[in-house]
Amino acid sequence: MGRFHDLYKKTYNLSEEKDREYFDCVKDYYYTDEFQSLKSHIQHGSVSLIQHIKSVSYISYRLSKRLGFDFYRTARGALLHDLFYYDWHDPDPSHRLHGYYHPGFALKNARELSRKNNLELTELEENIIYRHMFPLTVIPPKYKEAILVCLVDKYVATKEIIICSSGKRSTKFFSEVEGEK
Ligand SMILES: [Fe+2]
Ligand SMILES: [Fe+2]
Repeated sequence: MGRFHDLYKKTYNLSEEKDREYFDCVKDYYYTDEFQSLKSHIQHGSVSLIQHIKSVSYISYRLSKRLGFDFYRTARGALLHDLFYYDWHDPDPSHRLHGYYHPGFALKNARELSRKNNLELTELEENIIYRHMFPLTVIPPKYKEAILVCLVDKYVATKEIIICSSGKRSTKFFSEVEGEK
């Protein structure tokens, strides 16, 4: 688990120069105003939605590459898997059942963002986005890359919940991350 933890920590310090190959995969979406707007939303505790997405996308990219999967589409699909523009912690009644509905919102937003920027969104990427909440949403992912992202998303969400479960843990984690810059 130590290696996974190190990989997870690394996702907080990704650099466009050192991790160029990863950024080359996702840059078409990453630098759009829509994607950058996710920075202000919180996912779990003190982790932003954009950081959550980066963790899922980068870890999925690395594993996908290691396993000989389509890492380019894995990185892109994972980058779009939680593309929703609201804070799901808001008590707004339309945000109830967020867990069930957000894959559909993310897919709709990903299609719009792709159309606007003239980017091809493949069936594989759509499957990554739409099926990532399995087994909460009952239909499983269809492609190996989509299964991978579904698993990595759960790993990352669990890490975030653990890190944010106590002030002490969170201080320790973020000072480690800072120390590795
Ligand atoms: Fe999600
Ligand atoms: Fe997610």
